[in-house]
Amino acid sequence: MEFKNIVVLNSNNICHITINRPKQLNALNAKTIFELNVAINKVQEDSSVRAIILTGSGNKAFVAGADIKEFAHFSAIEGEELARNGQKLLFDLIDNLNIPCIAAVNGFALGGGLELAMSCHIRIASDNSKLGLPEVTLGVIPGYGGTQRLTNLVGKGKALEMIVTASMLSANEALQWGLVNHVCAQEDLLILAEKIANKIIRNSPMAISKAIKSVNASFNKTLDGFEVEKKEFGSCFESKEFIEGTSAFMQKRKPNF
Ligand code: CAA
Repeated sequence: MEFKNIVVLNSNNICHITINRPKQLNALNAKTIFELNVAINKVQEDSSVRAIILTGSGNKAFVAGADIKEFAHFSAIEGEELARNGQKLLFDLIDNLNIPCIAAVNGFALGGGLELAMSCHIRIASDNSKLGLPEVTLGVIPGYGGTQRLTNLVGKGKALEMIVTASMLSANEALQWGLVNHVCAQEDLLILAEKIANKIIRNSPMAISKAIKSVNASFNKTLDGFEVEKKEFGSCFESKEFIEGTSAFMQKRKPNF
């Protein structure tokens, strides 16, 4: 499938996905969400890809939110469907990927844009970034998982302050709040993202997928995360990658996963 709103490039075991609607500050319309869903599902089937880097095109925005022009005239039912479909097609898909996804936030990450970054496993930001959930200024609330993921990441008090004041955090404030892991100059952002991705791809993809599953279990109220961890831990034993990793350690060589 040819993409119109995103650019996908695979190189050296890393898949770079760039949201490419710079004139609309990379706002997420239905077509963009659909294209991201197709691209990410394809990545999941490609065992050569060990990490994903997600960013926005241009130097102003990662993603400035859901496309307001597209939903401004929606009914209540259509609004709920927008949230339900978007969460299923994109935000939950990324959160539950077995490949780590790094959000390289290169400017505004607002509303659905911050929600997209929060569904990624690792967030880094350029120092010009502004992060926030301004939905209440539009008479709506975050609908792509923001009320849940922001609370998980920064705690209830800070999440509610951000949501009800609609304030934007600078990159450095986001770093202090634990909302992003690293801040750097914009020209260094993709270099830093690749540096992190290159550390990931040296490790066992099987173990990484089980680590993501176990960490995510701690936010799933229907699961006992400790039980999930025990099962996933046990299931690593006897696997090819476990045998390779432990053998490499004992033979004093680097593992080849
Ligand atoms: N949806 C649709 N179009 C958007 C957009 C969005 N979320 N954000 C920006 N754009 C468009 C603008 O309409 C404008 O297009 P035109 O030139 O055709 O008018 C273009 O991008 C450039 O934007 P601005 O001229 O506004 O740029 P600026 O530098 O003056 O301001 C900004 C930048 C502060 C990010 C401002 O664009 C803004 O406030 N955008 C909206 C942010 C927002 O409210 N996001 C939340 C969306 S709701 C949501 O995400 C719901 C959910 O959880 C599911």
